[in-house]
Amino acid sequence: MKKYYIRTFGCQMNVNDSQKMAGILKSLGYEPATDWKEADLILVNTCSVREKPDQKVLSALGEFKKVKNDKPDAIIGVCGCLAQRAGYEILQKAPFIDMVFGTTNIHHLPQLLKEAEEGNKAVEIIEDIDRNETELDKYPTVRDNKYTAYVTIIRGCDKRCTYCIVPYTRGKERSRRIGEIIQEVQLLVEDGVKEIHLIGQNVTAYGKDLGDVKFWELLYAVSNVEGVERIRFTTGHPRDLDENTIKAMADIPQVCEYLHLPIQAGSDKILEAMDRGYTQKEYLQKIELLKKYIPDIALSTDIIVGFPGETYEDYMETIKVLKEVEYDQVFAFKYSPRPGTPAAEMKMTEKPETVSRWLSDLINLQKEITFKKNRVYENKTVEVLIEEEKEGKLVGRTRTNKLVHLDGGHNLLGELVKVRINKVNRFSLEGELIQELV
Ligand code: SAH
Ligand code: SF4
Ligand code: F3S
Repeated sequence: MKKYYIRTFGCQMNVNDSQKMAGILKSLGYEPATDWKEADLILVNTCSVREKPDQKVLSALGEFKKVKNDKPDAIIGVCGCLAQRAGYEILQKAPFIDMVFGTTNIHHLPQLLKEAEEGNKAVEIIEDIDRNETELDKYPTVRDNKYTAYVTIIRGCDKRCTYCIVPYTRGKERSRRIGEIIQEVQLLVEDGVKEIHLIGQNVTAYGKDLGDVKFWELLYAVSNVEGVERIRFTTGHPRDLDENTIKAMADIPQVCEYLHLPIQAGSDKILEAMDRGYTQKEYLQKIELLKKYIPDIALSTDIIVGFPGETYEDYMETIKVLKEVEYDQVFAFKYSPRPGTPAAEMKMTEKPETVSRWLSDLINLQKEITFKKNRVYENKTVEVLIEEEKEGKLVGRTRTNKLVHLDGGHNLLGELVKVRINKVNRFSLEGELIQELV
């Protein structure tokens, strides 16, 4: 049996695409390799959202190249967002690559692989969107986690945040038909999945292009599938998050009390330069509405520090928001100019050292807030979905997305249990089993 190895960079969209590619490869008779060194096929699924992931891809390729020393017939393929944006460039920098394809023609993997196996360079980067891209949805996923699964509900992004490469690498918004999504959810549940995680670059825009269906209606439809115990979704855009969606989140028992709602920056001037389409006040009003309908909601966000034109005063507006909202988690990054985006033409005003200091101050502040938010769980009893067993401990998540470690038998894998939290760490909780829930 031939073996494959997939290295995935980037967001959940890429993770889900890799799971689908593994599904394709399984249908072709491949099995997973435990190490890239023993693989007959290495696929690198790339991200281009910042400069760092771009560099990581090139260094990974430098490593994977060595597979050909022992296995001259081994095939190396590059796909994903960097391949979509700069596939030919990568091919020039790493001419040993056998296969390159973009983000909308992943379903062509069988043909591309055949071409590469015949000794040809298999390159297919489609500028526009492949009309048959949804063929990919028909393949089952191969997942590490048996009990939670991603389901792609919308591809692409119609927003034009001035710093962002995603609309260029993923194209315009295309929502999947509700019936097809429900069918996939049903199959996953039959396969033992308890938690459905709906994903897209902008899930709250779901249905806009279909015209006759809204995101919140999809939430109800998914919740009506027998066996769905939990529902999560990422990423919602603040502008498209409406009161109907928030009401549905509060009303549907399976929708977890957790939301990732990227703000990016606190200053209105910077938000406008980013073309985010909301002010700090409007964003905070959405947070208020969320807290009103779902009082115990956990929140997380993304922050960009050092956007062109950002001053210390602007940066302090971001800090103010972090202190006011008290997110459970914050993903903060230094601004990275992306080729071809409008912001790449804007002048950087602050010194890189200053921006690095701002970023590390922000991360330190958030560490304290995260710890404070976790401490609330001490001696509380929470519902945990047991997802895996690691180093003799059961590992699961609360509805609010906190990682919990506890002792217990592996008969509890995939079960919802009640756990009393008796220890709080900075990034996780520890607890003891109280009761199994049926
Ligand atoms: N669709 C999502 C996020 C997609 S990209 C949204 O709108 O929120 C994931 C995160 O990467 C973004 O939230 C942003 O914080 C960060 N990001 C995107 N482009 C970036 C850039 N050029 N420099 C630094 N961070 C960036
Ligand atoms: Fe990028 Fe903005 Fe679209 Fe998110 S909403 S993917 S940040 S353009
Ligand atoms: Fe990266 Fe593409 Fe996701 S650029 S963040 S993998 S959509």
